[in-house]
Amino acid sequence: MKGEERLGPEDYAAICRELRPVVSHISGGEPLARSDVYEIVRAMARPGDLPWMVLVTNAASLTLKKYWKLKEAGINQFSLSLDFPDERHSEFRRIPGLFDKMNRVIPEITALGNDDLSLNVCITEWNYRDLPGMVELARHWNTKINFSVYTPLRISDERGLPKEERLGDVRDAFQKVIDMKRAGYPVYTAERVMWKYYRFFTDRGIPGCQAGRRFLVINPDGALLPCAMVWAKYGSQRDMLRQFTAHNTCEMCYISTRANTEKTLADFLAENWEMLLRQAFPRKRAKGEITWPLSAGPPADGEEQAERERHPAAAQ
Ligand SMILES: C[S@@+](CC[C@H](N)C(=O)[O-])C[C@H]1O[C@@H](n2cnc3c(N)ncnc32)[C@H](O)[C@@H]1O
Ligand code: SF4
Repeated sequence: MKGEERLGPEDYAAICRELRPVVSHISGGEPLARSDVYEIVRAMARPGDLPWMVLVTNAASLTLKKYWKLKEAGINQFSLSLDFPDERHSEFRRIPGLFDKMNRVIPEITALGNDDLSLNVCITEWNYRDLPGMVELARHWNTKINFSVYTPLRISDERGLPKEERLGDVRDAFQKVIDMKRAGYPVYTAERVMWKYYRFFTDRGIPGCQAGRRFLVINPDGALLPCAMVWAKYGSQRDMLRQFTAHNTCEMCYISTRANTEKTLADFLAENWEMLLRQAFPRKRAKGEITWPLSAGPPADGEEQAERERHPAAAQ
């Protein structure tokens, strides 16, 4: 946005050193729309150490060359958003040719054998029937696939939540995904989490949100937000914990960030042994709150607005 104060790479790095996250999501808006994304990643990453660096992107401008540049800068995992297993994805995102583009670049990258791409699917009223198709596609593209659930909060649109009379069908689709996972398909999301997503649809909420404690968002201007849906800015995590988290009763989303950070230690170890093994030796943590994960570089107002204009239904 014109006149917007924007953190530079060193500013992000300084916040990261202070918060000491286990996982950092470089998200947005669209992170690849920032020309200094490589410098931001390089400044935040600590090769061979935490945080585990994840880039969340719509992949519209991802190329093999950018993949290597980002990897060299310190990205451990690429999380590519997918809403449909075919050309409907381009229409939904309002990005012409997006699905074809992904169909070209993803196999190019996975052929390298680095095992660092994951599809990231937000489950909605519009796409729940296509979940098995997207799991098939993940296997075809040789990626993992991770699920999250739609929240009406982002853009105040209830239509993305499955209607009550369709919840039986949603349940069947979830069961199919779980059966595929058991049969060896590359579904990252735990069975337990899939059923919690289902509960979010039936109950329209999940209590116990740990926003501010287990995860938070760094706004491009340096303010800290509890999550991308709550526009309350804080100068420090300590203030956020006192003024927001301690009184927070919101249960309006169950995005995968919540699902992945509100796990018990046993669940976390069982579901993340691969990442932990790869990252090998986590450094000793300072006393105090664990920030996990940390999302960085998110809703740059201008980028977010452009994304909303392209796709009002899901504000990617
Ligand atoms: C906001 S986008 C930002 C990063 C990037 N532009 C992208 O599209 O991946 C990150 C993820 O948020 C998720 N998302 C978007 N709208 C959502 C909603 N209303 N509820 C839950 N998740 C949503 C999508 O799955 C998307 O993959
Ligand atoms: S439940 Fe938590 S993470 Fe979700 S919108 Fe509410 S405050 Fe944000």
